[in-house]
Amino acid sequence: IQIHLIHPDGNRQTLQARTGHSLMQVAVDANVDGIDADCGGSLTCATCHVFVEPEWASRLPAASKDEQGLLDFTATPRENGSRLSCQISLTPELDGLTVRLPSAQH
Ligand code: FES
Repeated sequence: IQIHLIHPDGNRQTLQARTGHSLMQVAVDANVDGIDADCGGSLTCATCHVFVEPEWASRLPAASKDEQGLLDFTATPRENGSRLSCQISLTPELDGLTVRLPSAQH
C-alpha cells in the first residue's frame, strides 16, 4: 500500500508499505526525518507523533487509553488528528493514508 507523508515544510513523500507493520516501523525503515520513535513502539516515548489528515482520522481504530494519555506529552502540541504512529497498524483499507509530520518530536 502507499502512505503519504507531508513534512512541516510542505514537502510530500510517498512510502511503499507492507500491511501488518505499524506506520512508525515503515517510516523508520525508510529513514524518514521527523519520526524518532525512541521507544521502538512500546508506547512510552511519544516521539512518533503524527497528525492524521481529517479524511483518514475516522477510518482508523480509536486510540487506546494509553495512547490517549501519552498524546498529552508530544513535543508539538496535540491536535484533533494526533496519533502515535507506532499504534497505527497498516491494513489494506489504509492504502493512501495521509499524515502530516509535526515540526518537532523532542
Ligand atoms: Fe514510542 Fe510510538 S515509538 S510511543
